[in-house]
Amino acid sequence: MAESTESAKTISLEEVKKHNAAGSSWLIIHNRVYDITKFLDEHPGGEEVLLEQAGGDATENFEDVGHSSDARELMEQYFVGELTEEDQIPEKSKEKKTIQHDEGKPNWINNILLPAGAAAVVIAIAVYKYFHS
Ligand code: HEM
Repeated sequence: MAESTESAKTISLEEVKKHNAAGSSWLIIHNRVYDITKFLDEHPGGEEVLLEQAGGDATENFEDVGHSSDARELMEQYFVGELTEEDQIPEKSKEKKTIQHDEGKPNWINNILLPAGAAAVVIAIAVYKYFHS
């Protein structure tokens, strides 16, 4: 079936959009198209969630659930083809992998400037108290 991606059929977004109901439901996950019509009844997460996504891109919802590797394997049974080059949806998940603290402030601000500032305030208070006691 889907043993070689090179020979995989390419499918346009236009085509996927037609399969948006229980009678024929296709989903796009990571730019791959799945015909999940026969899987609707079997999905442990229920058919509702699948039908909501039918005919479109379900990558984000699929990943948000954190599906197991078993689910990912199972999914390949329903693979029908790749989305055509011009309809490919850029992957968003890669951005999430770099965890940025404090909206991207450089690290030295957090590591040097902030503690130094805090220390200066403490010293200033101590000096003030010393001279006014
Ligand atoms: C062909 C595509 C899909 C397959 C083969 C699949 C398969 C599975 C499997 C096997 C589970 C059981 C838990 C696990 O093993 O991770 C599961 C759970 C779940 N799935 Fe999917 N799924 C697919 C697509 C989706 C999509 C597109 C959504 C959301 C829009 C979704 C929502 C859920 C939810 C909410 C659960 C959790 C159910 C629970 O824990 O009570 N699934 N799915």
